[in-house]
Amino acid sequence: VIGIGAGDPEHVTRQAIGAIGATDVVFVIEKGAEDLVALRRELLATHGAPGHRVVEITDPRRDRGAARYAEAVEVWRSARADAWSDAIASELGPEQSGAFLVWGDPSLYDSTIAVLDELVARGEPLGYEVIPGISSVSALAARHGIPLNRIGGAVQITTGRRLAADGLPDGVEDIVVMLDADCSFRHLTEEPLEIYWGAYLGTADEMLIAGSLREVAAEIVAARAEARARKGWIMDTYLLRRR
Ligand SMILES: C[S@@+](CC[C@H](N)C(=O)[O-])C[C@H]1O[C@@H](n2cnc3c(N)ncnc32)[C@H](O)[C@@H]1O
Repeated sequence: VIGIGAGDPEHVTRQAIGAIGATDVVFVIEKGAEDLVALRRELLATHGAPGHRVVEITDPRRDRGAARYAEAVEVWRSARADAWSDAIASELGPEQSGAFLVWGDPSLYDSTIAVLDELVARGEPLGYEVIPGISSVSALAARHGIPLNRIGGAVQITTGRRLAADGLPDGVEDIVVMLDADCSFRHLTEEPLEIYWGAYLGTADEMLIAGSLREVAAEIVAARAEARARKGWIMDTYLLRRR
């Protein structure tokens, strides 16, 4: 399981490059956004082992309308495990190694490890190693030139869905929000918050906006909508910091 960073080819570590070069079969799960495919293609062209193969695994559809979110994700994960199991069994020889290239770092909002764990729990004869990557959260902090926490403080990483449903978490001064298609920060403009926002981090289209949430929220919403319409997709992450 190889973390490849969140968009900047320079963020791919030497450890990741070594692992890519030692892989017989690269399993590709989703086609993903254009830039994601381009980065993957570039990495494999430059660092892939001679004769390596790329095997596409068709992702089962997820029931996005399901009322019970966690349950729907579990069902989906299990269907993915079936598809991955078939692909590994038919494409990978006993002495061969396969790799899953993971956007950013595999430890953050990525199900690769959980699906492989399910295969191991089912008794499949495979083991895996995780190679960390630079996450979009690290890229966000670096591009804004900020630490994520303040002295001795806690940081919470959460999703736009949770922020919208639960509001700001108690007792946390710094909150990183990912997977927010809905600009959930819009509902918090009355709070004394700073926002550090970044989209397409590490790519040529990178966008950065920071400031008092009350003052820049509308600017971010407009910039996000314009970029999304122009490119057809967007990935953005932000830090909310209580003043
Ligand atoms: C499925 S999660 C994967 C996170 C990834 N494993 C990581 O370490 O960054 C996708 C979310 O990551 C964030 N993200 C990933 N790449 C990004 C980028 N280049 N710029 C801004 N946000 C990004 C966005 O919040 C997006 O909704």
